[in-house]
Amino acid sequence: MSQVIAVFGAGSGLGAAVARRFGREGFRVALVARRRDRLVTLAKELAEEGVEADVFPADLSQPSEIPALVQAIRDRFGRIDVVEYGPIGGDLRLVPAAELDSARLSDLLPLLLLTPVEVVRAVLPEWVGRGDGAFLLTQGYSAAHPFPQLSGPGPVMAAARNYLFSLNEELAPTGVYAGTLTIASSIARSEMGEAERVRAANEPADGPLFPFVDPDELADRYWDMYVRRDQVESFHPESLTPLVTR
Ligand SMILES: NC(=O)c1ccc[n+]([C@@H]2O[C@H](COP(=O)([O-])OP(=O)(O)OC[C@H]3O[C@@H](n4cnc5c(N)ncnc54)[C@H](OP(=O)(O)O)[C@@H]3O)[C@@H](O)[C@H]2O)c1
Repeated sequence: MSQVIAVFGAGSGLGAAVARRFGREGFRVALVARRRDRLVTLAKELAEEGVEADVFPADLSQPSEIPALVQAIRDRFGRIDVVEYGPIGGDLRLVPAAELDSARLSDLLPLLLLTPVEVVRAVLPEWVGRGDGAFLLTQGYSAAHPFPQLSGPGPVMAAARNYLFSLNEELAPTGVYAGTLTIASSIARSEMGEAERVRAANEPADGPLFPFVDPDELADRYWDMYVRRDQVESFHPESLTPLVTR
């Protein structure tokens, strides 16, 4: 039975690229996001490329629904081998830390911290039993490096990163891998990246500008991390100076 990757947050940017990259290696693909029509379109594209895929519409800001969702994927495919977790909305707003409040943080917590923990809990017994499996957590750069004016998701993603690092070491002896890809670029073809392209075009010339990255390049990085399993975290770009100024 061929291996299965579940892409949690399967949009037009990194999600689609990861589905294709692992599909090319023979993985079957479970696609998870809220909008069924977009998932169906992506599944059809993958099928035309010879990749078996199915859709699982779900709202990942509901952690209590994760056990049933993971079971539905397992019922359909018989197994799950890899999870890539990177749901993000095109309307995500970054705010100055001085303007952050508990209501905004509470809104971000389920999607960016509580649900990934529940996903790991749901897949771990299968993976530890098999002595194999991989959880790949995608985050923005503020998870690792705080920026002035760009807060909101950062503190919540930093908590998820902290969890991921502990998980990586705890699971290493079992054969299960947990790694995180931390991205300081706008992702081409993603809704969030295309919104950023519009914002940058309309902002003053001295504003910060993230460079764009092709999601296929990031998916290659993930494949490499998955195969090598010797890195808990990978950065894109690898330099610690992610911002360029116009
Ligand atoms: N895009 C960027 O420029 C950028 C920059 C830095 C870091 N990142 C990180 O890279 C990762 C991938 O980003 P991407 O923009 O390339 O992703 P993507 O694969 O283009 O899209 C992610 C998908 O997540 C889904 N999603 C959002 N909220 C959800 C929810 N509550 N429940 C279920 N699905 C949900 C959205 O689809 P639905 O609306 O249909 O649910 C969206 O299409 C993310 O972890 C992001 O934080 C992205």
